[in-house]
Amino acid sequence: KQEGRPLRQRQRLLVVANRLPVSAVRRGEDSWSLDISAGGLVSALLGVKEFEARWIGWAGVNVPDEIGQKALTKALAEKRCIPVFLDEEIVHQYYNGYCNNILWPLFHYLGLPQEDRLATTRSFQSQFAAYKKANQMFADVVNEHYLEGDVVWCHDYHLMFLPKCLKDYNSKMKVGWFLHTPFPSSEIHRTLPSRSELLRSVLAADLVGFHTYDYARHFVSACTRILGLEGTPEGVEDQGRLTRVAAFPIGIDSERFIRALELPQVQEHIRELKERFAGRKVMLGVDRLDMIKGIPQKILAFEKFLEENPSWRDKVVLLQIAVPTRTDVPEYQKLTSQVHEIVGRINGRFGTLTAVPIHHLDRSLDFQALCALYAVTDVALVTSLRDGMNLVSYEFVACQDAKKGVLILSEFAGAAQSLGAGAILVNPWNITEVANSIAQALNMPSEEREKRHKHNFIHVTTHTAQEWAETFVSELNDTEEEAQIRTRQ
Ligand code: G6P
Repeated sequence: KQEGRPLRQRQRLLVVANRLPVSAVRRGEDSWSLDISAGGLVSALLGVKEFEARWIGWAGVNVPDEIGQKALTKALAEKRCIPVFLDEEIVHQYYNGYCNNILWPLFHYLGLPQEDRLATTRSFQSQFAAYKKANQMFADVVNEHYLEGDVVWCHDYHLMFLPKCLKDYNSKMKVGWFLHTPFPSSEIHRTLPSRSELLRSVLAADLVGFHTYDYARHFVSACTRILGLEGTPEGVEDQGRLTRVAAFPIGIDSERFIRALELPQVQEHIRELKERFAGRKVMLGVDRLDMIKGIPQKILAFEKFLEENPSWRDKVVLLQIAVPTRTDVPEYQKLTSQVHEIVGRINGRFGTLTAVPIHHLDRSLDFQALCALYAVTDVALVTSLRDGMNLVSYEFVACQDAKKGVLILSEFAGAAQSLGAGAILVNPWNITEVANSIAQALNMPSEEREKRHKHNFIHVTTHTAQEWAETFVSELNDTEEEAQIRTRQ
């Protein structure tokens, strides 16, 4: 854990992310029901007693009328959440367009949209303008709620313009920015038309964090090569002002998973699953249905494994949970049909009247069902083409202390840098390699499985989400005041 000034008692932390950690459903003109989602970030911040977190973000719904907005604001206040209202046009241009059709694929090395380059180029300016406008709207809400002494923590690629907007309001505001995706090589970032403006806006923050050292290094290289600034071991310097840049690998609330396994309902689920798949090894994939997750490639590798290992055909099953996401973006719609087509073909090819090799679900599972599934799995397949960290790999490990299953992990997921020694690392683009790793995992002797699991389990239970949040905020508190003018020595 990095050294830092002790956190002030109950310091207020304003957490700004595109999406609030709640899903809101309108029940009437002025009534809403809210469901708080217990993601990594939420439990990380709830677990840190030294600060009091408030969330600022989009509730994920369009609320055009004042009555609805007032009612939702009131309901959210009870959950310490503050909404930013985005209209449909902004959501279309900023969220579906610039964030999810441009920045997301680019940061995951899938390039700028290929399909209709000219159309994309033409809409680029308007999408970037909407992106800046949306970021300004987030800044307005932060500014309205900011009190002196608060720390503002901005999250992810949706809000790269926010640090600059906030510092323009108040240069004394303590601002951190953390990226949950990879930051790509500077050679990729430089293809982005708005490359310089985005880098400069992020550099307005006091502290800039990434999951891995590589991403931090790519960011510093982009600043030196594209902006001509000076990279130092501490970060990036511009005319004597230092923006600190560092790696803060996120974790999970491992205790929450471990405790859940003891619940009678989860034990019951486990019994049912064991019975359902008796005599077969269970392989598991849990992903948002996103092109970065490499789901088609994973399924093709499983097909190759079945092709080459006929004796395994009726002894193994792949359960693929594919959670629908960003369904308004055409690329995501195409991916869904592509995955369905491949799964159908393979089940037709290798299925029997009583069993199919792949169970594919287009939906999420509730927390308890998910824990049970992790616990009965023999081999987890996390084969993202690129992934900022990938916490599914962490969740699987947390639930495997009894079974000691094998994790097959993409070398292009941030998690490869922490769980690499315990997992079987693969290049997800190489279908033969992944197929071979499935055979290796299924045949792995128990002593080796135990050794690998132990390595990963220690990591997952010691590098928790709570520790991640504490370290980031403590380091942010520790950055020098205001303009951080440093005399070069
Ligand atoms: C990734 C991003 C998050 C985002 C999540 C779900 O993990 O880093 O910022 O919230 O995907 O995507 P969505 O577009 O539904 O918010």
